[in-house]
Amino acid sequence: MNPNLRVDEWKITEEGFNPEMNRASESIFSIGNGYMGQRANFEEHYSGDTLRGSYLAGIYYPDKTRVGWWKNGYPEYFAKVINSPSWTGISIRAGGEEVDLSKCEVLSFRRELNMKEGYLYRSFRVRMVNGLEIEAEVTRFVSSADREAGVIRYTITPLNSDTLLTVESSVDGDVYNEDANYNEYFWEEVHRESKPAYSFMETATRKTGFRVAIAARSTFRVNDRKPVEGEGIRNYEKYVSIYHNEDLKKGDTMVIEKYVAVTTSLNHPAKTLHSRALDLSKKFAAEGFDKMLNRQKEWWKKIWDESDVVIEGDPSAQQAIRFNIFHLFQTYDGHDERLNIGPKGFTGEKYGGSTYWDTEAFVLPFYLSTADSSVARNLLLYRYRHLPKAIENASILGIGGGAALYPMVTMNGEECHNEWEITFEEIHRNGAIAYAIYRYINHTGDYSYMLSGGLEVLIALSRYWSRRASFSHQKNSWVILGVTGPNEYENNVNNNWYTNLMAVWTLRYTLENIERIRKDYIEEDKQLSGEIMPGNDETALWREIAENMYFPVDKKRGIFVQQDGYLDKELLTTDTINPDERPINQHWSWDRILRSCFIKQADVLQGIYFFEDDYDRETIKRNFDFYEPHTVHESSLSPSIHSVVASMLGYTSKAYELYLRTARLDLDDYNREVREGLHITSMAGTWLAIVEGFGGMRIKNDRLFLNPVLPEAWKSLSFMMRFRNNLIRISTTMEETTIFNLSDRPVPVTFKGKEYLIKPGEKKSL
Ligand code: BGC
Repeated sequence: MNPNLRVDEWKITEEGFNPEMNRASESIFSIGNGYMGQRANFEEHYSGDTLRGSYLAGIYYPDKTRVGWWKNGYPEYFAKVINSPSWTGISIRAGGEEVDLSKCEVLSFRRELNMKEGYLYRSFRVRMVNGLEIEAEVTRFVSSADREAGVIRYTITPLNSDTLLTVESSVDGDVYNEDANYNEYFWEEVHRESKPAYSFMETATRKTGFRVAIAARSTFRVNDRKPVEGEGIRNYEKYVSIYHNEDLKKGDTMVIEKYVAVTTSLNHPAKTLHSRALDLSKKFAAEGFDKMLNRQKEWWKKIWDESDVVIEGDPSAQQAIRFNIFHLFQTYDGHDERLNIGPKGFTGEKYGGSTYWDTEAFVLPFYLSTADSSVARNLLLYRYRHLPKAIENASILGIGGGAALYPMVTMNGEECHNEWEITFEEIHRNGAIAYAIYRYINHTGDYSYMLSGGLEVLIALSRYWSRRASFSHQKNSWVILGVTGPNEYENNVNNNWYTNLMAVWTLRYTLENIERIRKDYIEEDKQLSGEIMPGNDETALWREIAENMYFPVDKKRGIFVQQDGYLDKELLTTDTINPDERPINQHWSWDRILRSCFIKQADVLQGIYFFEDDYDRETIKRNFDFYEPHTVHESSLSPSIHSVVASMLGYTSKAYELYLRTARLDLDDYNREVREGLHITSMAGTWLAIVEGFGGMRIKNDRLFLNPVLPEAWKSLSFMMRFRNNLIRISTTMEETTIFNLSDRPVPVTFKGKEYLIKPGEKKSL
């Protein structure tokens, strides 16, 4: 944990410079706007430890796969959202010496992520080797109001003597990825130009051919004087800059403003990128820093008005949930159905910015409740667009006939993962994709998606399950063999309870919707019948499998068994693990992990979480009591799901303990890996632990259910909810809950088992 981080409800603040924590801070203080994002690297030169990272959503490179032992069916490449040309550089020379926080004596340092208003701020005072003391302040943001804009204001003041200051503002295309499999450079330069008013560079990714154009206008001003353009330019291969010299008197302040436009061929024809970037950067510079920042603040105000979670009595929990919400909206804003949410967002290289089941299983409900329904719908459309590739993927693996297996990891629909036990076996991801369709329709009431894509996906998924399951004469039931469940600490198991459950549920849900469409949507049915509807033989087989699937259970213990044979293991509890050996995945051999009973992440409990209404409370309790002590939660996705289940069971202090593990995972760096980037997808889990867990929020039968139970440490909790496009604020204390209907339609609510209709504008206290 970084001892320099301070608790503040609306800001993340780092006070004092700790070079050892720099990479970690670069992750934590990252900024983004859904279109682009960056780690909080310094603008000026820094020779200390840093991971430079600047990413553009959807701009990826197919890095050639590197594996020890090739298996047929492995993908050729791993898609990476790559480090893109950097526009943040502003290097400073004072009295002939380069300002470099690694070489100067740092007298004071402050870094601040303003979550309320959406910008990054930094100030420092240093004594340079030449004895000069300078003070600097930097504000930087990528605009959510103008997604192609990045803006920096950098001010420098010499404090103890007059000095010649040289400032150089650059665009640098000489960037690489630390995780490149073959140390390749991913970018080629297409064109560059440098003028006193602006620098421009256009680059293209190798292989994928994406074009990116960056135009950066820089102005230089001393105190209140008129800003001027640069006095000189530099123009080398993959590097363009503008520089400016100024004799500053002690106490004078030099202000550099940099207005950057980033345009890409993902959004515009390649031949227009140059002029668009130049025009935009001009427009941004004309508007000016303050106005642009004001629009950024307004954008974030609206986000917070509709999604804030307020916790009274626990400032560190308050800071944590805002940190999670802030980063989620920085990563994805739902504008573009071609984009998705990488587990690390724009904050690091790990996981390559690709899409995992995390989106459907964890992140979707966050956006359903906090944003317009089009945002969640775009996440569904992302998978719908990839359906042909998912069908191809299944057929490469030998399962044809229109069956779809979505990739474990993907950018454009093609599989990128290459560990056989996950790529070929962690097939439960198909279940989450089906469940997301249900969740979307249940939450929004928008059945049109089922008719215009959802059913087609469900049919292809059901085809997969029906062909992947096999009939066991021994068990006289259908079985699913050779899988990996969510618990990746067991591979190639038979009858993972969760996977079998998701298969059966998908088959049933598909059948149910086929029937509903046949009955209620006669016109659509006619059309769909000609195109995608399965025949009676096929649906009869689906019904048969759904009715006769085998599920491992232990009748004596009254629990569902994670997979065949799980109970043969020595059933140790996690408190027997030497704390020095945690996390076990960094200390134990893989073989030891596989043989142990320890569970990486929610598995049976993930299924119970999805379908809690199918089980009585005692069954849920028995399963929780059994599985929680064996679960090491070494996936950041795990504690939140256990926390929701614990809240539901009334285990509030356990729920709170689990909540803390997810909420401050990155801020407190529990897994000692925040330097690699933030756990963006698990941040949505934190929100689930609060809203579904402590708030007891559910949506069932077209009603909003609430059943709040607060952790002892909290005086009150309030959160915003979108339900059927109505905006509702729920505020709860130990004594009372107030439901405020901010919409113009009545909202049906079931509060602690009793039904109410909350009128438009009504604030009902219960
Ligand atoms: C988890 C997966 C998850 C992936 C990306 C892994 O550690 O086990 O469930 O999809 O991380 O977040």
